[in-house]
Amino acid sequence: MTLTQSLKTLGCLGDVTLEANHVRLKGWITSIQGEPIDQFKLRIGNQEITEFKLEKNLPSPDVQKLFPTLPNSDQARFFIYIPLDKIAPEQFNTLVQLIPIVKGEEGEVLFNLLESTLPVPEKEDRLGVGGSFKFVACDFLGHFVNKAQLKPHESILDAGCGVGRMAYSLSYYLDDTARYEGFDIVEKWINWSQSVIHEHRPNFNFQWANIYNKRYNTEGTIKVEDYSFPYGNEQFDFVFLTSVFTHLYANAVQNYLKEVHRVLKPGGRCLCTLFLLNEESEALIKTGKSSQNLIHEIEGSFCTDLDIPEASMGHRESSVMQWIEALGFTVSAKYDGLWCGRNFGTNYQDMLILKKA
Ligand SMILES: C[S@@+](CC[C@H](N)C(=O)[O-])C[C@H]1O[C@@H](n2cnc3c(N)ncnc32)[C@H](O)[C@@H]1O
Repeated sequence: MTLTQSLKTLGCLGDVTLEANHVRLKGWITSIQGEPIDQFKLRIGNQEITEFKLEKNLPSPDVQKLFPTLPNSDQARFFIYIPLDKIAPEQFNTLVQLIPIVKGEEGEVLFNLLESTLPVPEKEDRLGVGGSFKFVACDFLGHFVNKAQLKPHESILDAGCGVGRMAYSLSYYLDDTARYEGFDIVEKWINWSQSVIHEHRPNFNFQWANIYNKRYNTEGTIKVEDYSFPYGNEQFDFVFLTSVFTHLYANAVQNYLKEVHRVLKPGGRCLCTLFLLNEESEALIKTGKSSQNLIHEIEGSFCTDLDIPEASMGHRESSVMQWIEALGFTVSAKYDGLWCGRNFGTNYQDMLILKKA
């Protein structure tokens, strides 16, 4: 399977900072084909912002180091300054959407938040799901919208929702007609999400599933390979699993894919991230370039640590594709990740977009 999806632009809106007289946006942007970025469209909450100062094509050695083969990655930095009197007061604590324009066409939307007041979990819990809470939340909102065409009114399932990292940015993106459901195996994280995010957005619901996992829930009584998601058939437009299959054995991944297929509406989409083992990633692991040393084979999966295999698990790409296709999904896109030491990727983990017929 070599299917990949072409993207117009790659970038990041890393910072939105309130300063004395303006709001400053800092990020980087390139077009994949090396064409110049002409301009940006900017929206804060529901206000189009047209008056701002743009500085672009500034040096970006950090981006060049991460993406050495990406055209113009050495001069990708930009700053945008929006005078404070151009932003309506009610647009604070809302979503910032920045759209690069290349040859008159829109590139991938970049997301961030302006002075978000929704509380975040304690540091220990933020680190427990991988850290960089607000940044990853906004980055993945970009993946959901750009790669899986998520719309604000849709019905969504976040399987393995952790401590509400993705729900955090989604709570700013989804409207009141949308439905968000999340479940996870860590009771404390579900309690936090339900008391903070559900309180703020009643159409967001979180449920605990007491499933055993040697990394996340050693007291669990339910076997993951037998678990049925607690929702009826064909309820969701979009299901996602971010950094969940990287903690599951092969038989659990197969069961979860079956459950995702069951709960998706016809035509529904799934975005999942994984560590896919194929010729390229295995060669990079062998040469010591990979950040995940997935060398121990265990029950059809690969792990870095035999004491706690679920700390990090990879799966053979050929097997995953067989499971997916046997269920009747089509793989509409595959994005290779940076995890194994590739010099190009749109995310740390590999990412698949699946479509139910
Ligand atoms: C790295 S965290 C990612 C959390 C969340 N998806 C995110 O991106 O913020 C991995 C998550 O997978 C959850 N998990 C592990 N096994 C699971 C299972 N069988 N079902 C649902 N969630 C599971 C863990 O509890 C943990 O919250």
